[in-house]
Amino acid sequence: MTIILAIETSCDETAAAVIKDGTTILANVVATQMESHARFGGVVPEVASRHHVEAVTAVVEEALEKAEVTFSDLTAVAVTEGPGLVGALLVGIHTAKAIAFAHQLPLIGVHHIAGHIYANQLVQPMQFPLLALVASGGHTELILMKEDGVFEPIGQTRDDAVGEAYDKAARAMKLPYPGGPNVEKLALEATEEIKLPRSWLEKGSYDFSFSGLKSAVLNRIHNDQQKGIDTNFAALAKGFQESVTDVLVTRTVTAYDEFQPKQVLVAGGVAANKGLRHALENRLANKVELVIPPLHLCTDNAAMIGACAHQMWLSGARGDLSMNGRPGMPLQSFA
Ligand code: KG4
Ligand code: ZN
Repeated sequence: MTIILAIETSCDETAAAVIKDGTTILANVVATQMESHARFGGVVPEVASRHHVEAVTAVVEEALEKAEVTFSDLTAVAVTEGPGLVGALLVGIHTAKAIAFAHQLPLIGVHHIAGHIYANQLVQPMQFPLLALVASGGHTELILMKEDGVFEPIGQTRDDAVGEAYDKAARAMKLPYPGGPNVEKLALEATEEIKLPRSWLEKGSYDFSFSGLKSAVLNRIHNDQQKGIDTNFAALAKGFQESVTDVLVTRTVTAYDEFQPKQVLVAGGVAANKGLRHALENRLANKVELVIPPLHLCTDNAAMIGACAHQMWLSGARGDLSMNGRPGMPLQSFA
């Protein structure tokens, strides 16, 4: 049996979780800072770090209390090593190191995106080969996994990540941060749709590009302003939502057809988007086992870090007290 304490502080959530055997959540605590960042229209790194410092001890204590375990019950301490905001990452890393040092526990550094993928292990056992669509604030990728711990990226964004595009479009539509959920909500109010472009890139590519879509949103608002017209933001939000969903779903289905995985997983904050979830279900659920975590396991949390750390533990991956925050950490196989 393993009991892993996991800590995640890569962006604007201070999170700690206790995970048993990589699949059972004993506790999953998330303290969000969203309100503090909303007035700035996005995450302010220095503000994020300060909030993490204030919250991390209480969040870890709460997770241990909820899980009804003490430090002496733990097998290891896991923490997000990267990618993310360096100051924010360091708060989690120093906390994890201090716990590991004080209680003589092994330390495991987890890649944030590997964590998002392994969130699915908390829902349903992962079956290989699998295809993962990762759609978050910093990443848009299609990743093939033929076995546990081995990641083969087959496509990625060439410019903006999809969540980033949501957040920028939201800001242009004067919607508060975080943009994704607010664009989705506004799109539901639309009675018409402003058609926006889709970027398919060259034939056979699994890459993504969202900067053209973002520019199309900005241009439409700008052109309307020059003509003295009030932009129909709901129709624009719907057009944006439809374009993103079409591209993500079509790419995923094409990759499924080519690689014939046993499972398709969806990971990252944008996987919380109901339009995307429904479209994937419509197109894939009758062909393959489609796993989409519940909303609270799609957005940043520490349970996913613990789930991934369990597999890393089994593979023999160990960090040490020289661990540093790695803002641009690449996704590397650990098995
Ligand atoms: O995975 P995540 O919580 O943090 C990163 O690792 O980046 O993803 C955050 C991103 C943000 O860009 C946010 O706007 C987006 O996920 N997001 C959504 C939804 N909920 C969160 N995007 C679209 N629809 C949503 N419902
Ligand atoms: Zn994330």
